[in-house]
Amino acid sequence: MLAQNRDKILIVDDEQEIGQALKLYLTDEGYTPSLASDGTAALEMLVDEKDYAVMLLDINMPGLNGVAVLKRLQDAGSDTAVIMMSGHGSEELAVECMRNGAEDYISKPFALEDMLQRIERARAHRRERIEKRQLQQEKEDFILMLSHDMKNPLTAVIGSIDIIREGCLGAVNEEQEEYLQSAIDSCNEVVTMIDNLLDIRKFEAGKIQMAIHLYNTGEIVSKITHQFSRPARHDGIEFSVDVETGPHTIAVDKNSLTRVLGNLLGNALKFTPEGGMITVSCHYIPEDKVSTLTLPVYAQIPPDFPKTGSFVKLTIYNSGNGIPPDELDKIFDRYTQFTRKTDRERGGAGLGLAYCKLAIDSFHGVIWAESENGQGSTFVILLPCCSDGTATNNRSEG
Ligand SMILES: Nc1ncnc2c1ncn2[C@@H]1O[C@H](COP(=O)(O)OP(=O)(O)OP(=O)(O)O)[C@@H](O)[C@H]1O
Ligand SMILES: [Mg+2]
Repeated sequence: MLAQNRDKILIVDDEQEIGQALKLYLTDEGYTPSLASDGTAALEMLVDEKDYAVMLLDINMPGLNGVAVLKRLQDAGSDTAVIMMSGHGSEELAVECMRNGAEDYISKPFALEDMLQRIERARAHRRERIEKRQLQQEKEDFILMLSHDMKNPLTAVIGSIDIIREGCLGAVNEEQEEYLQSAIDSCNEVVTMIDNLLDIRKFEAGKIQMAIHLYNTGEIVSKITHQFSRPARHDGIEFSVDVETGPHTIAVDKNSLTRVLGNLLGNALKFTPEGGMITVSCHYIPEDKVSTLTLPVYAQIPPDFPKTGSFVKLTIYNSGNGIPPDELDKIFDRYTQFTRKTDRERGGAGLGLAYCKLAIDSFHGVIWAESENGQGSTFVILLPCCSDGTATNNRSEG
């Protein structure tokens, strides 16, 4: 059957006869084939015209060989489906090619009909892949639009409830105030979830705007922890804060760090059973004490995390079931939530920690979690410090 849409096929082979035979055959079959005689020429052709549906790529070529071309295509996120061709291939080579994103592998000599069938299959897979990605993109765009549009009415709801809670429209008793505050807290949870989602997308698209200035960590920590002491008390949780005050400053976006701490404290509240405890601490680690800090092997340290200097160490501990050791390196990935049979339904989207990691990375800090099953969890943040108040890290972005 003739290929109806005259898909473009790039044949890359230094053996002219094979290339020409394939080209003629594929033209007869309704395709639009082009020929490149080596890897470098193939990559140049792809720069000019990206919409090749399939590439038939010889492995053994002088200069840039087929495996190297395949890797370059993968790095560039190419859509072209690649069928590797080899005269003296081995199973290991085939496995390596498939691992590097090849669609198929064929040994020379091959029957032209066999090659045609493989091209058809590769085209179909490529089409499915593209359709799936488009659908995923549409889904994400829709979620983003919906989330964005939900924020305004929610903020209006919070504002209205707050006016009633403050007694502006008539006296409110203690119990009513408590209920209204709970409603505000729940709305704020949704707003935080939306902000996390929108900002994670901005981070990923490189479009996040941070207003980096120097701040005293203690002030930021004290303010946000104060907001969480009431709901903790309400849930019968002991809440203690140990913030070391001092002149040391950190270079951060205040709103962003506040949201990071809000996410961590929100999790702590969510995962601490009644009668449990949450402890927040904030300490300055001078340069001569930095060697006492031990980071677990699974902590993902960003490349620009400073190797010297002083730090501010923030920890948030909560009692409870803790986090299984094999989850500790995964919980910062977005949409990661692990479930335990004993857990009550806790809700959430699995976005909070992903936001925390991206934000802390952008401050050149590091965040990780520690937990021993059944012994609660501790989230630790290390932020580079400008201890004497001079802005060695002061950057102003956005
Ligand atoms: N303090 C904690 N104690 C126990 N498990 C935790 C704690 N913090 C996070 N986790 C685990 O890590 C997962 C991811 O947390 P994250 O904050 O990213 O998502 P979430 O709280 O489920 O949803 P969201 O933050 O989007 O509302 C949680 O679902 C939970 O399984
Ligand atoms: Mg959370």
